[in-house]
Amino acid sequence: MRVGVLTSGGDCPGLNAVLRAVARTAEVGFGDEAIGFHDAWKGVLEREFEPLTVQRCRGILPDGGTILGTSRVTPYQDEGGVEVVKSVMDDLGLSGFIVIGGEGSLACADRLTNDGIPCVGVPKTIDNDVGLTEYTFGFDTAVSTATEALDRLHTTTEAHERIMVLEVMGRHAGHIALHTGIAGGASAILIPEVPFDISDVEEAVMRRRRRGVHGTIVVVAEGAKPIEGTLEVKQAEIDEFGHERLGGIGVRVAKELQRRLDIEARTTVLGYIQRGGTPTAFDRLLSTRFGVEAMRAAHDRDWGKMVALQANKIVRVPIADAVAELKTADLDLYHQVAGLFVS
Ligand code: F6P
Repeated sequence: MRVGVLTSGGDCPGLNAVLRAVARTAEVGFGDEAIGFHDAWKGVLEREFEPLTVQRCRGILPDGGTILGTSRVTPYQDEGGVEVVKSVMDDLGLSGFIVIGGEGSLACADRLTNDGIPCVGVPKTIDNDVGLTEYTFGFDTAVSTATEALDRLHTTTEAHERIMVLEVMGRHAGHIALHTGIAGGASAILIPEVPFDISDVEEAVMRRRRRGVHGTIVVVAEGAKPIEGTLEVKQAEIDEFGHERLGGIGVRVAKELQRRLDIEARTTVLGYIQRGGTPTAFDRLLSTRFGVEAMRAAHDRDWGKMVALQANKIVRVPIADAVAELKTADLDLYHQVAGLFVS
């Protein structure tokens, strides 16, 4: 059989490892053919593709980014897009697609499957917010990068006896902030799931000072929000795909703490550094396992499924169920574990 493969939405470490695993499973495992489309659905609509062979994927396992390129284009954004995809499928003899993407791309893959374009999904995002899988690939790398940044910030923060705010990604879910905050020993962690009161952060800084600890590190997810009426924040801009363009809450928190406490406060926004670079061993392994299973599912014509990690086993779940609800941060971990260390 022949199957199309594409990487869609924001990039993340481990995409190439998935592609390599799909290519090897197709070619060596089944004698199938994988066709890689450039820049997600844009490449399908514009017929930009290349054979995704074992040879093409040689050496890409440790590389960040994606050899196929990515975009947020979908066949639904312009009239007739779905028909174009169907004609490309017919012309190339494709049985379906493997779509490697986050919740938006997976929801689109599910809709396409229902509209006669069979898809298998692979959950990708540093945010780790896709349902029914314990981890998405890319998350572990992002947390490792952010934790290393936090370790570095500790020494400069303590040297200057400042407040340091580290803003990390996490649009609707605070997984990165929570895991980084615990792994890197932050004194306060602000996540989208739990609206914060800036007075609590102020109080934590003061408690530390009373104990003679003068440096304080706060980790804040880009999507964290104050309890209504406690802190004025600017309304985020909306991008061309209707998403809020986040970023800025870290600066706002630092400014307010400095104003209230008259202690120097600085902000570091980690931004896209979390999305780039080589995947960790954990992510390479997860990506490889996901890629192998995604190609197996396509070979079985088990369309409409997403590969997922559950209890350390790779399973297939309906894409529709996986995207039905965002997977938000573990509040037990937040309150019972992180809560013990924030002071
Ligand atoms: O989905 C991952 C993510 O990194 C979010 O946390 C972030 O808000 C978003 O992508 C930004 O993506 P872009 O600027 O590429 O649209």
